Amino acid sequence: MLKLGIIGTNWITQQFVDAATNSGEYQLTAVYSRHAESAQKFADEVGHKAALFTDLDVFFASDTFDTVYIASPNIMHADQTIAAVNAGKNVIVEKPMVAGLNQLDAVLAAQKAHPDVFVFEAARHLYEANFAKVSEYTHSHKISGATLTYMKYSSRYDAFLEGKTPNVFTTKFAGGALMDLGVYLVYAALSWFGVPDKATYVPSKLPNGIDGTGVMHLDYPDFGVNLTAGKTTQSYLPSEIYSGKDTLVIDAPESISSIKLYQPDTKPQESAGKQDKNPMIREAKFFADAINTKDYAARDAKLELAKQVHTVISTARVAAGIVFPSDK
Ligand SMILES: NC(=O)c1ccc[n+]([C@@H]2O[C@H](COP(=O)([O-])OP(=O)(O)OC[C@H]3O[C@@H](n4cnc5c(N)ncnc54)[C@H](OP(=O)(O)O)[C@@H]3O)[C@@H](O)[C@H]2O)c1
Repeated sequence: MLKLGIIGTNWITQQFVDAATNSGEYQLTAVYSRHAESAQKFADEVGHKAALFTDLDVFFASDTFDTVYIASPNIMHADQTIAAVNAGKNVIVEKPMVAGLNQLDAVLAAQKAHPDVFVFEAARHLYEANFAKVSEYTHSHKISGATLTYMKYSSRYDAFLEGKTPNVFTTKFAGGALMDLGVYLVYAALSWFGVPDKATYVPSKLPNGIDGTGVMHLDYPDFGVNLTAGKTTQSYLPSEIYSGKDTLVIDAPESISSIKLYQPDTKPQESAGKQDKNPMIREAKFFADAINTKDYAARDAKLELAKQVHTVISTARVAAGIVFPSDK
């Protein structure tokens, strides 16, 4: 049984702890929060008896846990991951794992210096069963192009419009449409089509310089892929993958509940399976299995994909003039 510590006490951590404990592979044993009351409230709400911490150094030095789930603001992921790795803890860090190429290099170097430690980016959609069905299609057909969309009106956008500065709408915390939602699309594109020759990002920036929405174009030798991400509008468009005259239509790359293949002269059939009640259950199980069986090949394959994804995102973001404090 893995002993789980957590950083960040928002709803996503509750969802991960629920998935982790329901997988039967983890037990919540440590909670870090900046505030003692939040740590206590979190432990009470999830119904676990855990050691509570408000000092990160003391948290990482503690032997109350062996694996940490990190769901803090994006800009903090890398430093917290490195501190955890240096303390010999396995890490499951929320997307985006890093805020730029400097942080990517530092995380990979720390992991390399601790070869027994596991680091996983929690790109949960990669582990969903319907995502694998789309992978089967893209890896067995000649691809002619794709258009993938994830635009969701953020629950925090109203606060931003009222003049407040939610973390996810600031460069200070490495927020924005590309980092928050585009990362799902880049992960999908690279998983399904491979690494592009070139990526170009055209953001629509809010007055503080963060991208509220944006369009990325990925150039492949024989085709192009267009990605649209946004946090200030709501899209109901499906996503499409083209193969000659055929089109695979999926409802949402980040959470696929419908997959239909359209072919000339045939009626499209639904091929998606039922989604899991908790969308994080499969990633939680995958990470635990890899850690328990010391499957370093699984870890390294996922880290290689993460490296490719963040190289594409960071390079295109910086070229588009979106600068984070960690870029300097
Ligand atoms: N996989 C998914 O489906 C999914 C869904 C949602 C979010 N996420 C990811 O989860 C992460 C957290 O997202 P979120 O929306 O919960 O972020 P958030 O509300 O900005 O912050 C998350 C937690 O970090 C701590 N925190 C907040 N502001 C901080 C600050 N200024 N300095 C230090 N710590 C601070 C808080 O915990 P304490 O007050 O307890 O310290 C808070 O609960 C993000 O990386 C996001 O991309 C993933």
